[in-house]
Amino acid sequence: MRTPVIAANWKLNKTIAESVEFVQQLRGALNPWPNVDVVLCPPFTALASVASALQGTPIGLGAQDMFWEAQGAFTGEISGPMLVDAGCRSVIVGHSERRTVFGETDEMVHRKLLAALTHGLTPILCIGETLAEREADQTVAVLARQLSAALGGCESRDCPRLIVAYEPVWAIGTGRNATPEQAQQAHRFIREWLTKGRGAEAAESIRIQYGGSVNGANAAELLRQADVDGALVGGASLKAEAFSAIVKSAAAAKAVHSP
Ligand code: PGA
Repeated sequence: MRTPVIAANWKLNKTIAESVEFVQQLRGALNPWPNVDVVLCPPFTALASVASALQGTPIGLGAQDMFWEAQGAFTGEISGPMLVDAGCRSVIVGHSERRTVFGETDEMVHRKLLAALTHGLTPILCIGETLAEREADQTVAVLARQLSAALGGCESRDCPRLIVAYEPVWAIGTGRNATPEQAQQAHRFIREWLTKGRGAEAAESIRIQYGGSVNGANAAELLRQADVDGALVGGASLKAEAFSAIVKSAAAAKAVHSP
């Protein structure tokens, strides 16, 4: 059984004080702690403070992005060792907003993913098709291209540390989520692709999150799908109450389906 993993992607939101306040509220809301891995990805400026606030809790800390070089003349960038130093254990790479707003290519995502692994961080690799690609029946071709570009050089032994987030671009921040069947189909394809390339054992160990307008009302049904192992949550992760409802849904959905 894969432990479900729910990650909060706060994007360009929250001051340091707001971030720390969220942690206090979440600690209160998730007591007793469910059998779910929880990761918070605040903005860079709040990482160190959130790391302190998380001490003594099972909540993990992640960053929203990183650069592949460890140091040097790269104005504005943040490296893997800096994230580790700030207390991070994971990092989102290849989010669709990075790809579309900031022009990140498959090759850049690949370099970031390898750098994350090199520095001991768990990469949360985001992939997903646009609406035009889905309508043109290109979904699996896009997912295969993004997986093969990002995961070149990533060995089977790295797989247990890897998290893949399937985020259909048309579902991100739109309030329009994939149906549970659409999500399961894409997740099944991703797992089969990983099985072919990295072997069944490695593929079974990788957690695949769904992302795109996940909220307290739709999380349970999505998470009941066999290959949906968690969620990457944007908008609904900004309020502790809404986010903790998703975490509890994940615990309940997976508990019902345990063998
Ligand atoms: P959303 O964002 O939950 O607001 O759709 C998800 C994401 O971008 O990871």
